[in-house]
Amino acid sequence: MNRHSNQTSNPVLEVDDLTVEFKIRGQWTPVVTDVSFSVQQGQTLALVGESGSGKTVTSMSLMRLLPPRQSRATGRIRFEGQDLVTRSARELNALRGDGISMIFQEPMTSLNPAFTVGEQIAEVIRRHRGLNRREAFRAAVDAMDSVGIPQPGRRALGYPHEFSGGMRQRVMIAIAVSCEPRLLIADEPTTALDVTIQAQILDLLKDLQQANGMGLIFVTHDLGVVAEVADSVAVMYAGNIVEQSPVHELFAKPRHPYTAGLLRSMPAGPRSGDVPIFSISGAPPRPVDFPSGCRFAPRCTYGTTECSEPVALLPITEDHTTRCTRVREIDLRPEGTQYV
Ligand SMILES: Nc1ncnc2c1ncn2[C@@H]1O[C@H](COP(=O)(O)OP(=O)(O)OP(=O)(O)O)[C@@H](O)[C@H]1O
Ligand SMILES: [Mg+2]
Repeated sequence: MNRHSNQTSNPVLEVDDLTVEFKIRGQWTPVVTDVSFSVQQGQTLALVGESGSGKTVTSMSLMRLLPPRQSRATGRIRFEGQDLVTRSARELNALRGDGISMIFQEPMTSLNPAFTVGEQIAEVIRRHRGLNRREAFRAAVDAMDSVGIPQPGRRALGYPHEFSGGMRQRVMIAIAVSCEPRLLIADEPTTALDVTIQAQILDLLKDLQQANGMGLIFVTHDLGVVAEVADSVAVMYAGNIVEQSPVHELFAKPRHPYTAGLLRSMPAGPRSGDVPIFSISGAPPRPVDFPSGCRFAPRCTYGTTECSEPVALLPITEDHTTRCTRVREIDLRPEGTQYV
């Protein structure tokens, strides 16, 4: 969101070769493989890909929030230079809130049904900002106001079940941003919201970044939102990052057939939250059926026998990589194509 600033790059989070496996029908099965990326201070990385590509699994594994007996992860995750993988659960817990905060895709599961929404936001604020109860409650009402909850003073006294899905999502956003985290992982934070509120939330996140240099991982399947919020983009397909690039370069010159397909299937004209955007023929493979070569090859119009070999990420420029062996032979951007 800060792409015009001169901020020197300063990684908040660095992820190297992250692989996550789940026990599926008694077998350890890789679901996310060889994922590497970094998030700079004050910058936004968008993690984009269709349903089941591994965005939530990647996000949850960063804070080790996946079920321990059914999942295992390898790789390196560093937050502000410190290794998260070797931290104890207790040390990780201490980081949650003002270190790393997360907005979950399923908001209902993280609110306690027995407390009012205002109390729950105030409790988080009290713990992280050291305010007394009354000040914290007032700050909670302000936070509800800032995420567009009407009549926040009255709604703060309501319980989670009295809120609609979209309103609960706003409550979760209010909780996450109240702690002023140094890194925010937001998993489809605005998908359930209408376009006006979505724009309001994106502005709120931008303000926070400008105020305190927060790093942001923004998970979405909506390329319109990506264009609006991201500095850089990692495109996920079947548990891999298949392309990674600064945002303008990805839109102007995609270097992976999957990315090009996504861009081509973006709805034209003003963005509308409920228009389906993916129309690449076929469906992505399930983790038990991942091909041993390029995972996109079965759906790719450029696929040849070369593509049956595993593909590493290839550098195009210093900060643009693609997982396509044929990238130099194929022309993904026919003359005159306008992606945005
Ligand atoms: N607990 C689990 N056990 C086994 N497989 C799982 C588990 N959780 C997720 N998966 C599998 O991991 C893969 C990636 O799922 P993930 O939820 O990360 O996708 P996503 O990109 O977030 O999709 P969406 O856009 O629908 O949210 C899917 O194939 C999913 O079925
Ligand atoms: Mg998800």
